[in-house]
Amino acid sequence: MGINEAMQLVEKVMHQVIETDVPVLREASEHILSAGGKRVRPRLTLLTYLAAGGQSLDAIAPVAAAVELVHTASVVHDDINDHGVLRRGRPSVNAIWGRTFALLTGDYLFTKVYELMAPHNELNPIMAEAAVRLVEGETLQAAAVKNNNYTRQVYYDIIARKTASLFEAGAHFGARLAHADDTIINALKLFGFNVGMAFQIIDDILDLTADDLTLGKTSGIDLDQGRGYAAIHTNGNSNGAVAVAEAVTEVDQDDPMKKIKAKIMNGDAIAEGRRRAHELVDMAIACLDVLPQSAARDELADLAYMVVNRSY
Ligand code: IPE
Ligand code: IPE
Ligand code: MG
Ligand code: MG
Repeated sequence: MGINEAMQLVEKVMHQVIETDVPVLREASEHILSAGGKRVRPRLTLLTYLAAGGQSLDAIAPVAAAVELVHTASVVHDDINDHGVLRRGRPSVNAIWGRTFALLTGDYLFTKVYELMAPHNELNPIMAEAAVRLVEGETLQAAAVKNNNYTRQVYYDIIARKTASLFEAGAHFGARLAHADDTIINALKLFGFNVGMAFQIIDDILDLTADDLTLGKTSGIDLDQGRGYAAIHTNGNSNGAVAVAEAVTEVDQDDPMKKIKAKIMNGDAIAEGRRRAHELVDMAIACLDVLPQSAARDELADLAYMVVNRSY
């Protein structure tokens, strides 16, 4: 079985596992899953497995599916928190079914992860830790916005937890399932982590520079809500709204964020973020040196480049 066939199997596993006789859960889960998405995390699990010498992609598809379900659950909940109304090119679950059912759909997807992971005793603590980190990251982010201490250091801690941890776990699973040695396991974990960090920095830049149609999700909301990469550039002041209040003489009444956004766009914040993401990807790719040459290793490098070169 090749990688494309295995990715199809991952889709099948996800669709099967979410089946239920509760209409809202079935319809809302189906809605968000069938909308697609980049599927970068399950791909990472499958490719790290192959690159570490694994040979039975079909056997590990449920674990890759579990990683994608954790991510999917997190975006369903994230859209409640962030007031996102568009996701994966469709109205978000909260936009269609409302916050209560979006909360429950996210819960449902998270609980389905237990089912998929049940046969994998030794992997469960890794998944548990990644899920905990994700929730910690989202919580630290909301707290930093509220407490107005969204500094650069806090930002990197937040993205390490909310995004990079799941990438790290995805790569860790691939390496462990292939019975790789500790050197390879640690290298692939670091690969996943660094790719995840770069992924979120680029995501935050795209939130500023791209539009909803291109991204398939509600864009431009990070700064309005005082978070994301841009927030560390608002005069050391995390809260976009407060930053605007301080610059009140400059405020455009029709669009209060316009001036502050223009300032960030015209400064070197975006170039600096891209530089940082490229550095992280270079560090990630260097981690692959411990692996023997293979098509999967090359595809991992391609995946890392895709993360920084993507436009959506
Ligand atoms: C969005 O992730 C959430 C972040 C961690 C930035 P993706 O960009 O991977 O979302 P989908 O799965 O492609 O929709
Ligand atoms: C999402 O962060 C990270 C998660 C773990 C859910 P964002 O809020 O920045 O992601 P998008 O832009 O809505 O996808
Ligand atoms: Mg968010
Ligand atoms: Mg969001």
